[in-house]
Amino acid sequence: MVGGHDYFVRLVDRFYDAVESDQRIRPLYPDDLTEARHHTALFLVQYWGGPRTYDEQRGHPRLRMRHAPFPIGQVERDAWLEHMLDAVRAFPVHPEAERMLVDYFEHASTAMMNVL
Ligand code: HEM
Repeated sequence: MVGGHDYFVRLVDRFYDAVESDQRIRPLYPDDLTEARHHTALFLVQYWGGPRTYDEQRGHPRLRMRHAPFPIGQVERDAWLEHMLDAVRAFPVHPEAERMLVDYFEHASTAMMNVL
């Protein structure tokens, strides 16, 4: 519905380009974002019904556990979500698909919060 693997690669690249210059969250990430881009794209491909390459390369996602080392409060969550929603809107998809993506990113980013 959104264009498969290539759509998520474009989405995630746009998202991380914005993260690069956001001092609210840039410090949480490693200097080199190459792996983060790759893993996040594969995760989203898998989450939205595509090939399970993420699981093969990384094992079960356990995203809350993987995010536990990074202090994620309201500010960090909001910054993350702002960039992801900007990326979603940068590559228009069917309105129903956009609504599902936005709902998911809103809920999942809130679920990733681990500090007040
Ligand atoms: C919808 C919510 C989110 C999803 C689906 C998501 C997804 C992911 C994925 C798939 C990874 C790579 C895991 C791996 O190594 O296999 C990752 C890493 C990471 N995420 Fe998230 N994330 C979300 C929310 C957030 C939020 C709110 C923050 C706060 C800034 C955040 C910060 C990070 C950081 C710092 C890494 C580590 C990157 C690295 O070590 O390469 N994430 N995320």
